[in-house]
Amino acid sequence: MRNNIVAGNWKMNHTATQTKSLINDIKESLEGKSTHCRVLVSPTIINLALAVQEIQGSAIEVVAQNMHQAKKGAYTGEISAEMLEDIGVNTVILGHSERRTYFGEDNAILTEKVSMALENNLEVIFCFGELLEDRLAQNHFNVVESQLKNVVLNLDATLWKKIILAYEPVWAIGTGETASPEQAQEMHAFIRSLLYKTYGKSVADNVSILYGGSVKPANAKEIFSKEDVDGGLIGGASLNATDFTAIVTAF
Ligand code: PGA
Repeated sequence: MRNNIVAGNWKMNHTATQTKSLINDIKESLEGKSTHCRVLVSPTIINLALAVQEIQGSAIEVVAQNMHQAKKGAYTGEISAEMLEDIGVNTVILGHSERRTYFGEDNAILTEKVSMALENNLEVIFCFGELLEDRLAQNHFNVVESQLKNVVLNLDATLWKKIILAYEPVWAIGTGETASPEQAQEMHAFIRSLLYKTYGKSVADNVSILYGGSVKPANAKEIFSKEDVDGGLIGGASLNATDFTAIVTAF
């Protein structure tokens, strides 16, 4: 059965000292609370190793926000899948809309990244979602289908044990504008139907599909209550231990 997951994407926020203290605040505020989901945090790359140390003894997992598609070599400033694995990071976020928009990551690059991550046995949180103009033009299902078909829907069925999908409508990221629980459910059901058509019931039933875009304590419970929503990728609200814990415990 698929897992419920709440993942905090910290983006380019927090120094080492702040990373340490936020992890400890989250640990403290989760203490004694029963959680019904995997709890993931994704600090910036420079603080990943520190975060891996800080989560020891807790159920929190540390996730990377990005990695390069090449195995190694002359790619100044980049980090590889092997480097992540080596410091104890087992999951990587790929295809976030900020990477697509500001760093030119297209389907071809993302295909290479996903395959390099999987080759190194990393789990992938694959992000995708339509722009506001796509939704206004009623083209959102086509856009999402093409983002999935051009990157992950070609993968072998056995690899789906290592893939988490994160539907993040770009118009809802960091804007305070959230997709309604019904809009999220409608898209998640569509995504699951694509998995069903491509791979059959077992893959479709077992892949976790997260929603991302202005999830906060006030709306998490309703969004997570939808049948095909298996959790959230949380940006802004994941930087505050109290809010993040409230979202984690919304399951
Ligand atoms: P947000 O970001 O929660 O701040 O909208 C979500 C994300 O970018 O993953």
